[in-house]
Amino acid sequence: LMLVLCLSAAEDFDWTKNNHGSFYYGTFPTFSWGAGGSAYQTEGAWDKDGKGLSIWDVFSHKKGKIQLNDTGDSSCESYYKIKDDISLMKEIRLNHYRFSISWPRIIPTGVKDHVNGKGIQYYDELIDHLLENHITPIVTLYHWDLPQQVLQEKYGGWQNISMVNHFNDFANLCFEKFGDRVKHWITFNNPWSVAVEGYETGEHAPGLKLRGTGAYRAAHHIIKAHAKVWHTYDTQWRGKQKLVGISLSGDWGEPVDISNQKDIEAAERYVQFYLGWFATPIFHGDYPQVMKDFVRKSVQQGLGTSRLPAFSSQEKSYIKGTCDFLGIGHFTTRYITHRNDPTGRSSNSYFTDRDLAELVDPRWPDPGSEWLYSVPWGFRRLLNFVKTQYGNPMIYVTENGVSEKMMCTELCDEWRIQYYKDYINEMLKAIRDGVNVKGYTAWSLLDKFEWDEGYSERFGLYYVDFRNKNKPRYPKASVQFYKRIISSNGFPN
Ligand code: NOJ
Repeated sequence: LMLVLCLSAAEDFDWTKNNHGSFYYGTFPTFSWGAGGSAYQTEGAWDKDGKGLSIWDVFSHKKGKIQLNDTGDSSCESYYKIKDDISLMKEIRLNHYRFSISWPRIIPTGVKDHVNGKGIQYYDELIDHLLENHITPIVTLYHWDLPQQVLQEKYGGWQNISMVNHFNDFANLCFEKFGDRVKHWITFNNPWSVAVEGYETGEHAPGLKLRGTGAYRAAHHIIKAHAKVWHTYDTQWRGKQKLVGISLSGDWGEPVDISNQKDIEAAERYVQFYLGWFATPIFHGDYPQVMKDFVRKSVQQGLGTSRLPAFSSQEKSYIKGTCDFLGIGHFTTRYITHRNDPTGRSSNSYFTDRDLAELVDPRWPDPGSEWLYSVPWGFRRLLNFVKTQYGNPMIYVTENGVSEKMMCTELCDEWRIQYYKDYINEMLKAIRDGVNVKGYTAWSLLDKFEWDEGYSERFGLYYVDFRNKNKPRYPKASVQFYKRIISSNGFPN
């Protein structure tokens, strides 16, 4: 009964209703529609078939790190459900599916001494079945599950420059094993989170709190690793129409007062310290000037050097241009106002370096989760920002979607339908503005392990019953809605 009610909710949906300016009717140019997930968030089978430990296995097993002490041990069990999951994708008629390869599943220690054949076999099967069903795989190499044993314990994870070569070896193995069939590669997913939440706030694995330096150092090595892998691919594996990109998270920052120059500059800093931190080196060779200006010398060290590491001129030219397409993960927007640190920068941190405060508009409707406000026009602005700042690169939206925490209306997710409708419409407007968006990935296909939020935050088009050992999936109303967008390729008049 629940299911029937939900389908009719999608059918009855008012397509013309829009809370954020006029709705734009039209269809997309040649376009790829997809959905996504990632290894640790969906696979389960954390200790099966020779897989090594990842930092997320270790982190989630520590008490008090994850809501309700949830872990990704079994999650959606997607490791055992290749065919089931692909039939869900076929139901929506997806053109692509975005997933990630678990590094410790195929190289258990992280260092390329021993390759786990069963891990390779799993991804072989997944890729083959996707292709048989005409679904293009878009494959992420690093969606946060760093091998624990050697890399984190011995080297301190992304704090250590030696990671660049280890990651390159892993990437090279993936190109060798899967590159005959995979044409779209994403080196890193959301390095902002890796750096800030993994090494500055410690909310994510490996949980280090290296205030004021850890995030900048991790990011510096990640950018070098990305560039190295792009060059490896470019010199050794590139064939016709094969692409290597990176997926950056970019929420939009809008000045609170558009007539106040200080707010305008603060909003610019918000975006530059976020998306620009990674995109500017990759497209222009170096960090954004505002980062160089605002990440000052360490207070503790007195007259030390800047806490933002510097690239040599050789490194700059090596890094510049290492991006065939830019993946964008976008969820929400903040209003930004200038704020001086009244303590005179007594505490170094990524957050105080930016000299700003983030606000939300009290009139924005209550979000399903604590942080994810639906502000569709911010998406169009961000996409236009990418176009003008980075020379109109090819873009794939690699993540966009909304979660919920309410438990009783799970399958009738009308607010998610509204969110997708508005955001996809703003993306269409951005394409009309001349932004080069080639594909869109709804985040996510399934409800899954949502990092430090555990299973309490659900992003899926499909509901997963995690209490049931078989992890059954049920379509939410948004499945029908998204399917309709795909079949009509947008919003025909
Ligand atoms: C970005 C992360 O890449 C993804 O794994 C996560 O599910 C979403 N943010 C939502 O928080």
